[in-house]
Parts: sequence; structure tokens; C-alpha cells
Amino acid sequence: MSVTPEVAPSEDASSAAPASSSAPAFDVEAVRAQFPALQQEVHPGKPLVYLDSAATALKPQVVIDAVTEAYAKDCANVHRAVHALSQRATAKFEGARDSVRRFLNAEKREEIIFVRGCTEGINLVAQSWGRANLGPGDEILLTELEHHSNIVPWQLVAEEKGAKVVVVPMTDAGEITVEAFRAKLSERTKLAAFTHVSNALGTILPVAELTRLAHDAGAKVLVDGAQGVVHQRVDVRALDADFYVFSGHKLYAPSGIGVLYGKEALLEAMPPWQGGGDMIDRVTFEGSSWNDLPYKYEAGTPAIAQAIGLGAAIEWLEGLDWDGMIAHETAVLEHGAARLGELERLTLRGTAPEKASVLGFTLEGIHPTDAGTILDAQGVAIRTGHHCAQPVMDHFGVTATARASLGVYNTNEDIDALVSGLKKVESMFG
Ligand code: ALA
Repeated sequence: MSVTPEVAPSEDASSAAPASSSAPAFDVEAVRAQFPALQQEVHPGKPLVYLDSAATALKPQVVIDAVTEAYAKDCANVHRAVHALSQRATAKFEGARDSVRRFLNAEKREEIIFVRGCTEGINLVAQSWGRANLGPGDEILLTELEHHSNIVPWQLVAEEKGAKVVVVPMTDAGEITVEAFRAKLSERTKLAAFTHVSNALGTILPVAELTRLAHDAGAKVLVDGAQGVVHQRVDVRALDADFYVFSGHKLYAPSGIGVLYGKEALLEAMPPWQGGGDMIDRVTFEGSSWNDLPYKYEAGTPAIAQAIGLGAAIEWLEGLDWDGMIAHETAVLEHGAARLGELERLTLRGTAPEKASVLGFTLEGIHPTDAGTILDAQGVAIRTGHHCAQPVMDHFGVTATARASLGVYNTNEDIDALVSGLKKVESMFG
């Protein structure tokens, strides 16, 4: 479970790294104190043990405060009025875009498009870039590890354009090897779309190397960073992917906001996706012309308070000791893998050496939903089901797994509570 950042910051990335050398050392108890949701008993006598951050992360008080203030004080539409509230809302909304640019080390704020989440970002690229650039026989290269949101949008556009989805198989450990990826690239590959970190298994993909190989083959690259951006430093210039998408709600920010990063030249060349207010320059009944980036892709009133909350989450993350945070999460993950090994019926699903955050497992003879329900009664929150990754379930011949996933606030004690709960589960099934 390496903590080595997949993507080394580029030379001019000094402002990009979420951590700064002056940041205080990572103190998990101080972090936990900032999350109101952790200060509750979820059932009488059962303090919350939250192990479902891959589904959505809890929110620190600073994010909750930023959203509250956006509604309580600066409640106005953006880009549309000269009055003070609108000016303040616009400044905060655009300030959040600047924070995202810095966080990803994108070159320009014009490359940061606000969307509803990862899913919308991928659909935007599929419908805009895909419809303009794919034709009969062209290939879209995916991996077996992908979340449904990085499969279905490509199936839709492939069907419309006569293109073909090609899949790189994973190993039984849940890895995508460079060799397997290279073997599926062809002169017909127009786009490779792959996850940074698997939501179902936690595998960290060698995204920089896969990107380089895809580019060498003449293909564009989209990276699904929904899990990656939370647990890895991301520098989009060093990575060189053409598109990188992530969701705010997994990054300790509100739901309903996400980011599509795209290289400026590509975003300039692509047609708009949705039409409406703000994305236009001039409208007549004879035809319309488009606003400049990033607004060309932001039709309608955006998720203003949510974007401001995302900015607050990023600023909060920038104040943490990022290397310490990754080291802490990795240590808890390793403790989890070791302790889960004590359970007789348990099979860990996803054993790649390079992993982040996720402990997926099945229990022989026990349905994951039953295990999840019994754990909930102990105050332990995990996710059970197919995790929107049915091809991964198919690989293992199961319909569902149980998944404990870590955030910045988890501790070895949380893992110990999970293991105690699972021992109880096993005992109840005889
Ligand atoms: N994609 C989210 C998960 O993995 C919802 O749980």
C-alpha cells in the first residue's frame, strides 16, 4: 500500500501541493474534532464509526459554515447583478474556481469547469468531445475496474457513433497492468478513460504511465479522479491527462458540485453540451454564439453554495500536513488488511500492492447486506452492494461485497470496532 504519489508535482507546482512545509504535523484527533457528524451516537450507546467515505465523505465544520454563510449572507445569483450580494457571491464562487485550479495545478482557471459531479463531467466529455470526435470503428478504451459512470456514458456515445468499447482486463488482485493496457491499445483507440483509484477495490492505477502510453498511440485520456483526488496528490500538468474529473462530496465538500478539468485547447474546440443562460455570448432566433471558457460549459444557474463549500474544503485540505495524512491513511489501511485476516470467513477483494482507502470483502455464507445491517447496529457504517462496479463483481463471481472505506478522520480504533462487529456477525451465523 504505497504512499508514493503517482504523479510527481511538476517543477512549477510549488503552489499546487495541498500540503505546505509549514503545515502542522498531521494530528488525527484534531482533525476528528472538526467533524460534527463524528460527535454523535448513531444508536444509543453506539458512537458513530464512519467507514463509508468512498461513498461520501463527512464534512468539516468550516465547509458547513461556508455553505451556511453563502445562504445566510451572500444569497444571490452569480455573474448577473451589480448589487452587493451578487458581487460577493460571484467573488466567492470564482474564488472557489481559483482554489480548484491551485489544488490541481492546472495552468488556467479557464480549464476548470464546474459540474454536478464526476458523473456529469464524464457525460459532458462523452457527449461533447465524443460526439464530435468518434466515428464508426473507433475504439474507447476502458478498464474492468471502472465505475458505471465511466462505462455507461461511453456505451451511449459508442452506440450513437458506431464506435466500440474495448476493456482492459484486471488481474485477480484487482490490478491493471501496463502490459494488459498496452495490449488493448490500437491505432483505432481514440480515447482511454480509466480510474485513478478503484472505488470497489482501492487499487491505485499507474495513471501517468497509462496516460503516456495512450498519448503515444494517439489517443486522448480521461482520468476519473473521484477517489484519486482524495488520497493522492494530483498535478494535472505533470500527469498530462486531457481530462480529469472529480466530485466535491468525496473531498469533504457538499454534494451537487464537481469539477471537469480539461486542457484549454480541447475545451475551446469542443461544442457546448447544454444550452441556456450564462453559456452564451449572443442569442438571436437565427442562431447563438458561445461564452468564453469556462462558462461555455456552465449553462444555467450553477451550484453556487456548493462550489463555495468546495473551495472551503480545498482550503481546509491545504492547511493539513498532506504527506502526514497519506501516511496516516495508509497505516490505518494496512492495520485494516491485517486485522481482517483474523476473520475465518472473510476474503479480501482487492489485494493490489498499490492501494488507497478501500477494504472490500466477502464473508462465506453471509450476505453483505446482513453483515452491513448487523454492523450498523454496532454503530459501524460501511457500504454493501455492487458499488456501481458490476463488472468488478462479475470478475469475482459475486453480486455484492462489503466495503469499508477510509477518510482523513479514521483511526486504528475504527478498524478494531469493525473487526469486533464482524466477529459478532460471524458468531451470529454459527
Ligand atoms: N461511487 C460511490 C461509491 O463508490 C457512490 O460508493
